[in-house]
Amino acid sequence: MTAQSSPSFTFDPEGVDPKEIPTRVLYTGATIPVVGLGTFGSDSVSAQTVAEAVSGAASVGYRLFDCASVYGNERQIGHSFCEIIRGGVKREDLWVTSKLWNDKHGEDDVIPSCEKTLEDLQLSYLDLYLIHWPFPNFHPPRCDITSRSAEAKPYLHESYMKTWRQLEKLVERGLVKHIGTSNMTIPKLKLLLRDAEIRPACAEMELHPHFQQPELFQFVVDNGIVPIGYSPVGSPGRPERDRTPDDTVDTEDPVIVRIAERWGLHPAVVCVKWAVQRGQVPIPFSVRRTHYLSNLRGAVSGPLTEEEMREIEGIDRNCRLIKGHVFLWKEDQTWEGLWDLNGEITPA
Ligand SMILES: NC(=O)c1ccc[n+]([C@@H]2O[C@H](COP(=O)([O-])OP(=O)(O)OC[C@H]3O[C@@H](n4cnc5c(N)ncnc54)[C@H](OP(=O)(O)O)[C@@H]3O)[C@@H](O)[C@H]2O)c1
Repeated sequence: MTAQSSPSFTFDPEGVDPKEIPTRVLYTGATIPVVGLGTFGSDSVSAQTVAEAVSGAASVGYRLFDCASVYGNERQIGHSFCEIIRGGVKREDLWVTSKLWNDKHGEDDVIPSCEKTLEDLQLSYLDLYLIHWPFPNFHPPRCDITSRSAEAKPYLHESYMKTWRQLEKLVERGLVKHIGTSNMTIPKLKLLLRDAEIRPACAEMELHPHFQQPELFQFVVDNGIVPIGYSPVGSPGRPERDRTPDDTVDTEDPVIVRIAERWGLHPAVVCVKWAVQRGQVPIPFSVRRTHYLSNLRGAVSGPLTEEEMREIEGIDRNCRLIKGHVFLWKEDQTWEGLWDLNGEITPA
């Protein structure tokens, strides 16, 4: 241990050398690791447990962490970052994403909200700041699927751009290196690309073998935006409010199971390998060392065969898991209305 290192952070000899983790290049020329750790404890894992997983994941080589104020654990994760940096990892070798929550879209709320996140995370800048959802609608923690906010509104591009302008100011002030989107659709992104002064560098979206979103994925890549794939394993631990009887289970798909058996891997790791190889940045969540280590090893180890990649491409079920029910703005609406399925922004 060096004089500067913290007793609670050490490099794990069984981990992956971070230099061996490939990166993707953003339009700014900056690079982002091809895999990261999610930090949403799905209302069931404590903030402290997630923060310990962040420290553990950094020990085994993770350098990208996907945070958000609404996950309610940024203060605890901030202690982990502090230890990690004191333990010898340079700040510039970390990639930290955070997200603006839906109740902070107001022009005067964005910058203070980001500043609070920075204070909690004990950082002077973020690598990436996302607008978590394109709707200024929020719900009480642990609410059920039928919960609606009385003030809920539809997507209003003018309002979204006002929020985006504040994100641009964060870049201008040096508090944030890149800005990006989350849970957007092609028609909404088209308007953003038309009107943004600072273009989105990344677009975070749900991506896993049963929900591949090929059109959105291609649109994003064609526009020089790096896709970040959330719920890459199919989110087996997601909250009850995000479960419906029609949901499918990626890790039980016979194709995934067969490929996993062939390589001697857990099916979850096959999902992560597929994601990296396809070109998105998966951010699997786990608080178990064996799981997050195997996900990282899977991301850097030999590729799936072309035949396996084609087989997985063939099992897309268009099964969206995080449907967003609680962000709906009308009583008689179904969740499909959030996702502009007919190619146009759903009218108010
Ligand atoms: N932008 C957004 O709106 C948005 C929405 C959802 C999620 N996200 C981000 O994406 C991250 C990941 O998504 P997610 O948490 O929904 O789902 P996920 O990463 O697909 O699934 C996480 C679950 O998979 C299990 N798991 C992970 N690796 C495993 C392995 N190697 N073997 C066996 N089980 C494994 C974990 O259980 P164990 O802990 O038991 O290993 C955990 O329950 C979140 O944490 C969050 O940072 C963003």
